[in-house]
Amino acid sequence: MPVMLDSALPSDQPSPATQSGEVGGVQVFDLHPVEEDFRETILTCLQQQPKAVPAKCLYDKRGAELFVKITQQPEYYPTRTELKILAEHGAEIATHLADGVLVEYGSGSSKKIGTLLDAVTKAQRPLPAYVGLDISQQHLVESCEALASQYPGLATVAICADYTQPLSLPEISALRGKSKTAFFPGSTIGNLQPDEAVAFLDNVAQLVGPGGGLLIGVDLQKEKAILEAAYDDAAGVSADFALNLLHRINGELGANLDLEQFRYRAFYNEAVGRIEMYIESLVEQSASVGDVMISFEAGERLLTEHSYKYSPDGFAALADRAGFEMTSSWVDAEQLFLVAYLVARGQ
Ligand code: AVJ
Repeated sequence: MPVMLDSALPSDQPSPATQSGEVGGVQVFDLHPVEEDFRETILTCLQQQPKAVPAKCLYDKRGAELFVKITQQPEYYPTRTELKILAEHGAEIATHLADGVLVEYGSGSSKKIGTLLDAVTKAQRPLPAYVGLDISQQHLVESCEALASQYPGLATVAICADYTQPLSLPEISALRGKSKTAFFPGSTIGNLQPDEAVAFLDNVAQLVGPGGGLLIGVDLQKEKAILEAAYDDAAGVSADFALNLLHRINGELGANLDLEQFRYRAFYNEAVGRIEMYIESLVEQSASVGDVMISFEAGERLLTEHSYKYSPDGFAALADRAGFEMTSSWVDAEQLFLVAYLVARGQ
């Protein structure tokens, strides 16, 4: 079970959320997520064997920009394929969301949420409310404000929180008594180990409650060559994205890592069904990170990310462990990507 923070009580407790204000038509709540200390995380991760960092360390400002650039590469099919599925099946998806509250995990994939909201509008089943969840307050409020101005009938609520921890929605009239559907696009779930993914889905099931839904994007298992190209594109953007971690460590922690002496590697581990991404040291070397010396063997790897790939049945089985039943799913013609609608069982 994930550690519980006092800012994130389980859903049978009254919500501790205090409203921090109303900005541009958005009700803002701050659950004061505890942000990890980058220095501490990196020093621990670089001193362990084998070296591995949490994927979230990759997303400083430059990392987030490079990730957007990855999604525009011809080899990286997930983003455009998911968008296409959402657009093509929007009318049917809208029937599942009808008259309920949509809760987006990781607010700000504005194209995807826009595609969904346009679909429900077109199907004449407009949503009464949208809730954006994100750890970054600034990013969250900006994207919620943009949505509120674009969809004037939509009650928009921004909750600044770490959605990897259990949390409950504030007791406000815009949300009370309405069915809830969580939205977790992008196959971000692939960054989690299967057991962590079950724990996360379990938290989502608690939040939406029995009968509530989850609309989720999941990347599918496929030919190794397609996967490895998606995670190591010819233009080198995937490599820049991973190696940016070293750049970030140098800039933020006063380190002297020599970026020329490392390279990026991505492998599909077919037996486990995951892409493994590494930064590999080209030579035996050491560098100082603040006042700590870190050394690398020649060929030693630092794991930056796992990206798990599922079969539709494999994902349904995983979701089942968290009390979700996959009642509808949509796949593109090339069977690259899955969008699934799951319903939380009652206890
Ligand atoms: C953000 C986790 C969905 O796994 O496809 C892409 C991250 N890293 N290329 C993915 C990523 C390198 C991405 N997710």
